[in-house]
Amino acid sequence: MKWFLIFTFCIFEFLEITAQKQPVIAENGMVTSAYPDASRIGIEILKKGGNAFDAMIATEFALAVCFPIAGNIGGGGFMVCRTAKGEYDVLDYREKAPLKAHEKMYLDEKGNVIERLSIDGHLAVGVPGTVDGMIKVHQKYGSLPFKDLVQPAIDLAYKGFVLTQNEADNLNEYRSAFLRINTHTPAHLIKPEGKLWKAGDTLRQIELAQTLERIRDYGRAGFYEGKTADLIIAEMQSPQEPSRKGIITYEDLKNYQAVWRKPLIGFYKGYKIITVPPPSSGGIGILQILGMIEKYPLARWGVRDKRTLQVIIEAERRFYADRAVHLGDPDFYKVPIQKLLDKTYLQSRMKDFSFEKAGNSENIIAGNIPESEETTHYTIADKWGNVVCVTTTLNGAYGSKVMVKGAGFFLNNEMDDFSIKAGFPNLYGAIGGKANAIAPQKRMLSSMTPTIVEKDGKFDFALGTPGGTTIPTSVLQVFLNVVEFGMPLQKAIDMSRFHHQWQPDVVFMEKNAFDEKIIKELEKLGYRLQVRSSIGRVNGIRKLNNGKWEGAADSRKDDTAIGY
Ligand code: GLY
Repeated sequence: MKWFLIFTFCIFEFLEITAQKQPVIAENGMVTSAYPDASRIGIEILKKGGNAFDAMIATEFALAVCFPIAGNIGGGGFMVCRTAKGEYDVLDYREKAPLKAHEKMYLDEKGNVIERLSIDGHLAVGVPGTVDGMIKVHQKYGSLPFKDLVQPAIDLAYKGFVLTQNEADNLNEYRSAFLRINTHTPAHLIKPEGKLWKAGDTLRQIELAQTLERIRDYGRAGFYEGKTADLIIAEMQSPQEPSRKGIITYEDLKNYQAVWRKPLIGFYKGYKIITVPPPSSGGIGILQILGMIEKYPLARWGVRDKRTLQVIIEAERRFYADRAVHLGDPDFYKVPIQKLLDKTYLQSRMKDFSFEKAGNSENIIAGNIPESEETTHYTIADKWGNVVCVTTTLNGAYGSKVMVKGAGFFLNNEMDDFSIKAGFPNLYGAIGGKANAIAPQKRMLSSMTPTIVEKDGKFDFALGTPGGTTIPTSVLQVFLNVVEFGMPLQKAIDMSRFHHQWQPDVVFMEKNAFDEKIIKELEKLGYRLQVRSSIGRVNGIRKLNNGKWEGAADSRKDDTAIGY
């Protein structure tokens, strides 16, 4: 029962898919992101002659303004890119545990988890990585002046942006949480009692604009030092309850560094997959699942054939069992990447799978390998052929809900992505142990999976999504929709999705994902199925045979593709 409550609680009420968006086709450049203003700002940078990395920086800061539920400067993320020269890179700007963090920080004296301490409020906050991430991207790949890339977000924050119905609903839904968790009133987000935000309202954010100006003028120091740092540290000391004080110090902020990492690379039936390594679990996830299902003739069976579904569900189950034991921050824990991706190992994982009966998560434990939901994704391509694929997050909706007084931005609650107690489920129902235990300066395990796919040595498509633990399975299913089932990218994205994560032992599915007959057949085999709110918001870009870009934004919400 607990699993169901946790899972249902943390998932936001997405609308059912009401309309299929049309893909956007363009010759020069493309931006697909969660919010129209952010895509517009990204494309304007491309039109001014900026490259995909410049547009990334502008889009990321714009999302912090117009998509505050997940866009951020108080959180972190991962970027995977493929340059015009065909080179790959990964930037890990994931948050880190503060220096004062320790394994038992969310437990009471009896060793029990203190309710929601890692989720709501000041103690849930990891040291933010986004601003350093944007600066590192600019230093390595940027072409336009950094200040020109922050300015559009500053203008958007001062002038305001128009709320969609979805974002108005989000602000209304979390109003009481903003008031409960903050000792000050984030006045610009709070409508007077009895009044609601509605579509068409304009949201202005003056303090956020001023913070962005400091970042524009002083770069890293505009966030990790000086006035912004003072405001963050003061905020850490101002929780509603003294026992929930934050522990981030000036030293934590000054020390934070995003890191360049080597991508994970895998192959599937002639496609090359370039994806994120740990501390995200997502890349290993999709490569493990693909390794487990490769031998099955999915294309012949069809996308909603019972056997196809069983094979995918069972492979998902086995990946999440491995995730719980073997995956964590590689700077702190030796993640056995090669072994987890070993072909023989992956094939052996499906040995006990039978088409006659559902697997049982109690019997599926992590492989004994011979000696590892609110987020947002955007994808950008430029006229030179650079592609960046970025997933960024505050973790839950509006993160910890802590807004830094005087600075106008939300802080993440990424600490909940650690295993706060062995076997205790996080916000997404994921469990973990030693590999993902809390330690000072360690990065918490992520599921973010920005991924690029090549065919015959050429860029084919790139994609990613929010959705906590459902991220890898959503990326995987869209990948299979394109590669195995031959769907155009937009259709592949809009197709309904399902998710299994080992624990709880339930197949979560979007409404209308499977027809009644399939549901009955799966239930007869012992699968437990449960309809839930929509899964993920995938944004992707594909290179068409005629050389044009196809931008595909998820039809589930306000995601928008703009090309030129
Ligand atoms: N906070 C969601 C993730 O990193 O997977």
